[in-house]
Formats: sequence, C-alpha cells, structure tokens
Amino acid sequence: MNYHKKTVKDVDVKGKKVLLRCDFNVPMAKDGSGVITDDKRIRAALPTIQYLLDQGAAVIACSHMGKPKGEVKPELSLKPVAQRLSELLGKEVIMAEDVVGPDAQAKAKALQPGQIMLLENTRFEPGETKNDPALAKAMADMAEIYVSDAFGAVHRAHASTAGVADYLPAVSGFLIQKELDFIGGALANPKRPLVAILGGSKVSSKIGVINNLLEIADTIIIGGGMAYTFSAAQGGKVGDSLLEADWMDYANDMVKKAQEKGVKLLLPVDTVCGDKFAPDANIQIVKTGEIPDGWEGLDIGPETVKLYCDAVKDAGTVIWNGPMGVFEFPAFAKGTEAVAEALSKTEAITIIGGGDSAAAVQQLGYADKMTHISTGGGASLEFMEGKELPGVACLLDA
Ligand code: 3PG
Repeated sequence: MNYHKKTVKDVDVKGKKVLLRCDFNVPMAKDGSGVITDDKRIRAALPTIQYLLDQGAAVIACSHMGKPKGEVKPELSLKPVAQRLSELLGKEVIMAEDVVGPDAQAKAKALQPGQIMLLENTRFEPGETKNDPALAKAMADMAEIYVSDAFGAVHRAHASTAGVADYLPAVSGFLIQKELDFIGGALANPKRPLVAILGGSKVSSKIGVINNLLEIADTIIIGGGMAYTFSAAQGGKVGDSLLEADWMDYANDMVKKAQEKGVKLLLPVDTVCGDKFAPDANIQIVKTGEIPDGWEGLDIGPETVKLYCDAVKDAGTVIWNGPMGVFEFPAFAKGTEAVAEALSKTEAITIIGGGDSAAAVQQLGYADKMTHISTGGGASLEFMEGKELPGVACLLDA
C-alpha cells in the first residue's frame, strides 16, 4: 500500500469548506451522564483542526461513535464531543442535529471561514457502514475538500471514511500522516534489528500480523494467551490455559517458517499460573509446557521477562502489539509492565499499536518515552498485517 499521501499542506484551504473526518469514538461513562472518560482522540485531532481554522477554512467535522447500526441513539450523540472540543479549542463548535439532514445542510451553508461545526454521529445514517454513494455524495456536497484524520477508522470502507473521496479532492490530516510515517516507515524501512512483540489472547486474531512480520522482522516475540497454543502445539501441557486447538498446526507452521526465514521466534520459557481467572488467584511459576491441570497461564514468567527484555535492548526498532498477560489483574501484570519498562529504556524506535498495549503503556506512565503510540486499535493491526486501508487508499498520492 502506498502510504505517501497528500496532506492538508498540499491544498489551499483558505476560504474553503472542508469536510474533516475525525475519529471521535471516545469512551463515555457507562452511567449515561455524557462524560467523556478519555479525550485523547479529541486532543489528537487538534493540530489539524487548528491548522485548518488558522488557514481560514470553514471546518465541517464528522465522526462515528459506537455502533448505533443506522439508528439515532441519543446516548451515542456527538454532543458531548462538541462540548469537549469547544473547551479544548477555546471557541464555539456548532453542533448539527443530523448528518446530512436539513439542520446539517443549513448550518454547513452558513458556516464562515474560521468557524467549526460538528455533524451528528455518521453511523446514525444507515448508509454510512454500507458505504452508500448517495450518503457519501450528500456529505461531500456540503464541502469543497475532504481531509481525513480518522486513523482509528481507516480500516473501514464507510461513506465518511472512504466513499466521500470519490466526490472531493481528498488529503490526509497531520494525525494520519504521523501514523503512516511511523508505522509505515517501521514496516517498509525499519532501523534494524526489527523486533516485533506480539501478545494478546488469540493466535487466530494475530495470524495476519505474524505472517506479515515473518517477512519483515528479525525477531518475533510471542506472549499473552496465544503463547499457550504454541506450547500445546509443541507437545507441552497447558493445563486450563487458553487454547485454540484448531490453530495448533498453524502455530507449528509458524515456528518452521521462522526457522526457514532465519527469523528469531522467541516463545515463553516459563509462565505465571493462577488456579482461577481472578485477581486473587493462587499463583505458581512453572516452566513452559508444565502447567498442571486446574491451573492456567496468565502471564509470562521471570525468565521469559529477562529473555524478552534482553531482545529489546539492542533493537533498532520495536513494534509492540498486545499485552504479555492479564495485565488488568496486578498479580499478572508484571510481564507487560516489564516489557513496557524495557521499551521505555531502549534507544530503539518504539511503535506501540493501539488498543491494549497503548492502554498499558499509558497506564504505566511510559507514554512520553515511546516514539509513537498509535491512536488506532484495529487500524494499526490491519496496517501491520500489510492490508490495504480503504481510508488511506482513497487519499491522493503525494
Ligand atoms: C476504534 O475505536 O477502533 C475505531 O473508532 C473504529 O471503531 P469501529 O471498530 O466501531 O469501526
């Protein structure tokens, strides 16, 4: 995929109406109070918004939130986002009552250079997730230029993330540009050795990434629940650990492929087990492949921590996606914590995929020590799988 794309700096936005797709899919308090519990994604969009406003554009921002499935769901309204954005920008954000309905149309028409409005949740429109051309055109008709800065949603071929680009000149904002430069750069032209750390519970959800990284990386480190499928495939006892029996052959193939390609594939040598999946489980540390019945592996063990942290020390680039254990339980968070700490100390370029690993790095206070933390969970994963991202492919090539 060509990830060298035109940016907002390559087009003249002065006096123009700009449709800006953001990813304002932020977590909200469960009590329905409309309180945004983490505004990182709103902050991440500020540089592009501020730039457009400073250049004299009239900004029509839009985003999805949650999965309302084409219905208007008041609890998924973007009104709280408009309010937070307005606080962060220090200026009014005009909120539209709909996406392409009469209110949005009228407000977009009246919007002046230097003003910003926000359309309602794009997924209130049934055509959004179907990439309906009529919806894409109706959105595009309100503007003269399309800017996408919604990295978290670029893996979706939806009307507002890809379809609109059929009707407007389409360029990237600064956030997408940054994500493409860092992740794309690390994959296409990494400073070597390139070490990829892959965790998370399931092998099945990481196949694409492992396959792609086997072609690129010098070392692949496996942690998290998926390590038990590898262990079982090699004849180990995994007790009650998470196991994807259907993927054992695949796991063996991966080990073989890594050998053939000269990629170092590191698997855990020991495991922290619990006698139940709970924060107060009894704990024992055993060698890989020796987990007794009634026990389950919930974190990498101390020997593995040492092995993995050593591998990171001399890396040129480290890509990390997925925790090493059940890090939401403090007793099983040590592996993930140690890897995060090792990454914070290495001289290597460190790229953290979105989702759980990003959350772990942030929670542990290492965020500012990393080269890049992606704002996209699914999007960064698909990027690392080497897949074409519809929300990037639709933008003009640089
Ligand atoms: C995300 O939170 O990963 C993005 O906003 C995409 O959301 P989606 O998985 O609902 O498409």
